[in-house]
Order: sequence, then C-alpha cells, then structure tokens
Amino acid sequence: MANGEMDEFVERVRSQSDILSVVSRYVPLKKKGNNYWGCCPFHQEKTPSFSVAPSKGFFYCFGCHAGGDSFKFLSLIENISYFEAIKLQAERLHIPMPQRQKSPQEIERDRRIADLRKVNSMARDFFHNCLTMTHYGEAGKAYLASRGISQETIEEFQMGFAPDAWDKLTRAFLKRGVTMELLLEAGLVSQGKDSSNIYDRFRNRVIIPIADERGRVVGFGGRVLDDGTPKYLNTPETILFNKRRLLFGLDKSGRAIQQAGHAIVVEGYMDAISVYGAGVRNVVASLGTAFTAEHCRKLLRYTSRVCFCYDSDEAGQAATVRAFSVARDAGVEVRVIVIPEGKDPDEYIRKHGAKAFEALVQKAIPLVEYRMQYVLKHTAYDTLEGKVKALHEILPVLRGIRDAAELAEYRKKLARILMLDEGVILSEMRNGAGVPEPQAHSGRSGRRSAARSQDNALKRAGRIVIRMACRDASVLAHIRGMLPLEGIYDAAHHEILAFLFAQQEQGKTFDDAAAAEILGDEAMAELSRSLVENLEGREETEAYHDSVNILRRAYLNARFMQHSRQAEEYLQSGNPAYRDELAEVKKIKEEMDELQVSDTERRS
Ligand code: CTP
Ligand code: MN
Repeated sequence: MANGEMDEFVERVRSQSDILSVVSRYVPLKKKGNNYWGCCPFHQEKTPSFSVAPSKGFFYCFGCHAGGDSFKFLSLIENISYFEAIKLQAERLHIPMPQRQKSPQEIERDRRIADLRKVNSMARDFFHNCLTMTHYGEAGKAYLASRGISQETIEEFQMGFAPDAWDKLTRAFLKRGVTMELLLEAGLVSQGKDSSNIYDRFRNRVIIPIADERGRVVGFGGRVLDDGTPKYLNTPETILFNKRRLLFGLDKSGRAIQQAGHAIVVEGYMDAISVYGAGVRNVVASLGTAFTAEHCRKLLRYTSRVCFCYDSDEAGQAATVRAFSVARDAGVEVRVIVIPEGKDPDEYIRKHGAKAFEALVQKAIPLVEYRMQYVLKHTAYDTLEGKVKALHEILPVLRGIRDAAELAEYRKKLARILMLDEGVILSEMRNGAGVPEPQAHSGRSGRRSAARSQDNALKRAGRIVIRMACRDASVLAHIRGMLPLEGIYDAAHHEILAFLFAQQEQGKTFDDAAAAEILGDEAMAELSRSLVENLEGREETEAYHDSVNILRRAYLNARFMQHSRQAEEYLQSGNPAYRDELAEVKKIKEEMDELQVSDTERRS
C-alpha cells in the first residue's frame, strides 16, 4: 500500500468525522453560544468545563487542559493510540482501510485463526445442544438448576454440557470434515501417551464458553458435577486463548461498565455468571486470582474505576492486595467489595439474593482502606513493636496515594488507629528507603534533604538512645551512667528519659500504656518516633554507642563552657575558688579528648 493511499484514507476519515457526534457518544453536551459544553470525562468535575467547538473540529477542557481533535478525543477516552483511534473511527464510519500486501506467513496465520474460530463456535453449539436438546445433558441441567442458574442465563452465556463419553465430539466433528489436527490445536481433544490414543478433552462436565471482548469464542471451561478433580478444566493456551489477557464476560458487560462508571472484577466465571444473572451486569472474571496489567489495560477502555470482589478466603484477600500495584501503575482507582459471609459472590448471592449483593456493591471500600484493615487484622498492634510493623506495611499503600488531601486524611486515620503521632507517619513516609513518593515532582529531593538536615544530629542521637533504652534495662543503666538528666537539653527527650529512669527505679519494665498516660503529647510523639524510626541499615549497637557519645559530648561541651565562664568570673573578682573551676575544666577537657579518641578507634 502506497503512502499516498494511507494519507487519502486518513483524510477521508477525518473529513467524514463530526466531532460533535464523536464526543456525544461518550459525553452529554449542551449548546451555549457557538460551543457545546459538558462535564469533562478526563477528570472529576460537577460543573461543565469541557467544551467542543464543532466549527473548528476541536475539544478543550478548561479544567484539566485536555484538548485536540476527534481522534485525540477517541484515543484518550478509549485508551488507544492516535492511529488506532483513526482505525476505530473508520470502522464506525464503514470506511475500509487500504490493504497492505500480506506475506505468505501472515496469510497462513490468518487462516489458522479463522479455522480455530470456526471450530470453537462449532464446539460451543455442540455443547449447548447437548445440554439443552439431548438426553446426555440431563445431569448438566440438574447441576445448573441446583446452583440456581436460570434458563435465561444458560442461553445468555450459551452454556453447555460435554457428554459422559470418550469420543462424542471427536466423531461428530470428524464426520463434519474437521481435521484431527485442528481439533488438537483447538484443545478440544487430548492425546494420550500413545499418540493413537485420542479422546475428547471435555467429558461429563458443564461447559462455559469463554469469549473475547468481541464475543468470539476462544476457549472453554468445564466444571465437574461433583467434588471430583480437577474442579475446572480449561482449554490449554492456543493462539486465541491467553488467560492473562482474557476477561471473561467483557463482551457482555462493556456497555454496562461504561454506564455504571466502574467494573466489578470477580475470580471465577461461575461468579461472573451468577452476578450477571442477579442483574448486576458490569461484571467480568479474571479466570483465577491473578489480575494482570493486560487485564487492566482492557478495562481502561471502558472505565478507570475497578471494584474487586474476590473470594473472601486468604488467597482472595492476598490477590486483592496484589492487584493494588497493578492498578496503581495503570492509574486505576480501586475499590473492594467485601463479602461478609460465604466464600465468594456466587455463594453470597445464592444465600442472600441479588438485592443484598447490590447493597454490598454500594458499600465497596477504597483499596487503601481495605489494605489498612487487612494489615491491622494480620498484625497485633497493641504493642509499640506491632504498631511499627503495621505502619511499615501500610506505608507503601500510603505512598501510592496521589491526592494530597486524601493522603492527609489517611495519615490522620492511621495515626488515630495506631495511636501514633501523625508526624511520625509523615517522617517515616519521607524516610522510605528506595521507595518512590507519590508524584515525582522536581525539587522533591531538595525538600527531602532539607527535612533531613533540620533533623539535627542531637535529636537523632536522642531518639536512638531512647529506642534502645526502652528495649533493654541494662542499656538504660548504661545511659544513666553516661548521661545525667540535667545533661539532656531537649525537653521532650528529657521528659522521656526521666520517665524511663523513674519506671526503672520502681522495678518496672517499659510499658507503652504507662508512657501514654504519663508523658505529655510532645514527648509521646517523640517517643513513638524514636521507636518507629528507620536506622537506615546501621548496626543498632554501633548507632547506640555513637549516639551516647554524641550526647555525652554535648553534655561535656556545655559543662566545659559553664566551668570556664565560672573560672573567669572568680579570677576577675579575686576569688581563689577559680582553681577548683579550672581543675574541673581540665578534667572535662581530658574526657572530651578521650571520647574523641575512642570514637575514632571504634570507627577504624
Ligand atoms: N480455576 C481453574 N482451575 C481450577 C480451579 C480454579 O482454572 N482447578 C479458575 C477458574 O477460572 C475458576 C476460578 O479459578 O473460575 C475460581 O476458582 P474457584 O474459586 O475455586 O472456583 P469457584 O468460582 O468458586 O467455582 P465453584 O463455585 O464452581 O466451586
Ligand atoms: Mn464458588
């Protein structure tokens, strides 16, 4: 195909595209003056700032500054490339694309795909007829009825049944001229160790046809009628069938997803069928627990909001949590539908009905919230150690929140639940080693290093000492020897150490409930921070000794100054006590030098 032909094609599509009808398909518009106005589909808003100028062929949003022509609009809203948008629009206008000469390999591949599609749709009809029109299907009918699946749903999903026999499908299909090679490639028959031993893959199972988003059958799932194993048998991977890319039900639910403004993602096709049957049509299944980036991209064509409704067991919960990073990277807003009772949405609907399920959908919670609940449920956070652990597990989720106000709210909430100071959470978020913060603004590292340098060495040392003191009574005794209380100049640290010393005198070990009762707000915040703070990979005992030395030196420095000043004063006023003062200064100086030496010794 010549370049000129392509240009001509694009020009033809462009000239026949009317931006007003392109946009109206997605956004309701009202005329005001020369332009049309509506609520922008690319950001959240309540008053229209999205405008279309039909005479110019452009759209522009005064809120988020998205703008461009019809194709740009389509590429944004369908999450496809500009060229794909042109092709989509051409399809909608029934303008044929100029055809490129295909290579023999491409022609061969197209033929194989066409054959596979054909045999798949034959198989769907075969299974469906077995279920609905033959006596073989009775067991399957009874099974589906026992699960409360209606005739209507069976028709809607073209569900079927594979007879309890070895070669019903093989024989019927060979008779109709389908080759054995194709049956094997489609995964409809299996081959034993002895290659002449060929038999139907699906036997005595209820069959669920699996279609791609355009409704073309690409594979099948077969469920046993009892507790046999495997519970499900699926078509093996073929050039058409790829579990990681396929979302079961999307062909039927696409429109409903757009209308509802969100998609419900469940684990199994039986769940999807059940939810759909209950009248909630914006549902897809991910064929097992893994929700992949490909799934996410598929959904983004319809919505940027996803509600997970996975099984309520541990595996389902863990999968929900894992889906978080996939969704975050794709910029999808995630909520979770929590099933309070029963294993999965199907069981819940069977037990409590469609209305009850719809109520659960209404109550879907943001993933951050879910993650918080999950962590809190799995960590005993009644001790400070537990709080620290819980906090560190939730931090990655908090870092994923892009909206500042929302983030602040969750920080508050978490601080309240864990009974930690909000400042602690804030500083921990900044300190996260190697984990990116939300939105990599330029200048972020500047802000970070400023925050760090503010945090002066003395404060940091104090916190390390306090952290160790809380943990170990013998350390506390060591601190008492090295640092008299009057040598602790930071008010909060002074208060904390005074409390710790007093506790020790009463023979008590550290107890954070008592601390919360006795310490003031500021001291309590500082104590939390001390316990939570990251040592950045340093050996704790080493950090402790350095810290004690830093504080001791500060104490000695202060005393050095104090006695020097006193000696000076006595000298001036002729008081002989100046000698004692000078002796004291000398002693202090010696210790300071010693400290310097031992410090360097330990470092080398
Ligand atoms: N699955 C599978 N093979 C299995 C088990 C599960 O392929 N042996 C996939 C199927 O796609 C299934 C999904 O994982 O739909 C969910 O599995 P599970 O929760 O075990 O099944 P349910 O949907 O609860 O099935 P049912 O209600 O029929 O027991
Ligand atoms: Mn189930």
